[in-house]
Amino acid sequence: MPTPVPTPPTALPDVEVAAGTAEGLPTAVLTKTTDGPALIGPGGAELTPEWAEAVGLTGKAGEVRRGPVDAAARWSVGIGSGEPRQWRAAGAALAKAVGTLLETRPDAGQAVQVVLPDDVDAEQAGWFATGLRLGGYGFRVTGDTPAPRLRSARLVVSDRDRRDEIAAEVKRTAVLTAATALTRDLANAPSNVKDPAWLAKTAARVVGRPKGLTAQVRDEKWLAEHGFGGLLAVGGGSSRPPRLVHLTWAPPGAAGPHIALVGKGITFDTGGISIKPNEGMHLMRTDMAGGAAVIAAVGAIAKLGLPVRVSALVPCAENHVSGSAYRPGDVVRHYGGKTTEITNTDAEGRVVLADAITYAHQDLDVDLIVDVATLTGAMKVSLGTRIAGLFSDDDALAARITAASERAGEALWRMPLLDHLAAEVPSGIADVRQCPPGPGAITAALFLREFTGGLPWAHLDIAGPARADRAYDDVVPGATGFAARTLVEFVAAYAS
Ligand code: BES
Ligand code: ZN
Ligand code: MN
Repeated sequence: MPTPVPTPPTALPDVEVAAGTAEGLPTAVLTKTTDGPALIGPGGAELTPEWAEAVGLTGKAGEVRRGPVDAAARWSVGIGSGEPRQWRAAGAALAKAVGTLLETRPDAGQAVQVVLPDDVDAEQAGWFATGLRLGGYGFRVTGDTPAPRLRSARLVVSDRDRRDEIAAEVKRTAVLTAATALTRDLANAPSNVKDPAWLAKTAARVVGRPKGLTAQVRDEKWLAEHGFGGLLAVGGGSSRPPRLVHLTWAPPGAAGPHIALVGKGITFDTGGISIKPNEGMHLMRTDMAGGAAVIAAVGAIAKLGLPVRVSALVPCAENHVSGSAYRPGDVVRHYGGKTTEITNTDAEGRVVLADAITYAHQDLDVDLIVDVATLTGAMKVSLGTRIAGLFSDDDALAARITAASERAGEALWRMPLLDHLAAEVPSGIADVRQCPPGPGAITAALFLREFTGGLPWAHLDIAGPARADRAYDDVVPGATGFAARTLVEFVAAYAS
């Protein structure tokens, strides 16, 4: 029997906005830091200065303290000084605290209510809801019954003038966070289950069938007939053949540019003949995190009904070792005819992306291309694990991506596409070299640029932030879902 994997998408807690507190529901009170003692928010009358001193209350973001026994205020949750990430951390901490309590007291209740301060704005409430929904996320493949978690949260907003605006933003963040969680689900799935066919089939299922959205899955026969030599070369070493996922969102009355989103979909990366050391290889089951973010983003864009045309491509392959694997020294012919001299089979991401990016600009009539990939270990070395690298020659496009990432709470840093390194891309025996010498994240981006046909293009190397080894903000260990929300916000900005 195949390993049962929890069927994506994972259900997240419902967050609703209400006018008043409900009797008998455990209440959380929000606490701020100040220069002096912590400032306890509305609903916290029972939380006396004596109690605050006894529990060492500070109000720091993510601090959770149990209220006095029998008090209606069961928790105090710190929101720090109220920065966006502090609101996310606070929501996440509360979701976790409820989960932890349920471990020992399964009858403690899976619902909570939070009285928001009077000066809260819609954005802050949205950040808090984001933390509440994502902070308790967990992925486990188990035969046991899953542990109970937070199931619903009521955000109490007494001011009726703000309530509708806050409720609308909380509703929007429900779609965004669902995209993050779906990205995590897909990326966390173990690769004995997640082969290219599984990823493609699951992608086509989870985006649903809203009007205007179509999902096509191209198999290895179609790829061979159409000359996708890069994807076939990388996928050729595995007994589980490659796929190309093609999602089209074509809403009636779409305005603005036709956007191509392209995501790396390597379902497992052994490195191929240039095999990776065993240490850390198991983490390469998340090497399709960019593809997962693209899939989840398109699902969310359709769910929000954004009036912008989007074509998404996810080339899916397993980079494996066998007698049919591609080799260093091979020359691969990509979709569209450009050739690459292979020197390291572990630089497989760029080889599959080259086919998909070419297909986007030659056949899909798109106006701009954004690709997302766990592309290089060098990127992770450069910026660490909480920030992605952004590459683009187009300042206006780079500014749009950066603005979107800020709204999404996902950090990016712009990287240079250096001319003297671009000069190293041509090959003596093929059109381009797969691995030009120099700093690895930049040279990988320069390789990809060769396939963009001169269209406005941005590349996100998410090798660092696609995974976390510890919790922070709304992130939990494992796949983070990074970039899904940025992509949705990026597309949404063309709708307004
Ligand atoms: N999937 C890896 C990059 C990666 C490394 C992602 C660590 C996340 C964490 C990619 O396919 C790869 O192996 N890149 C090579 C390129 C090199 C051979 C030019 C790398 O970075 O070592
Ligand atoms: Zn890889
Ligand atoms: Mn690799």
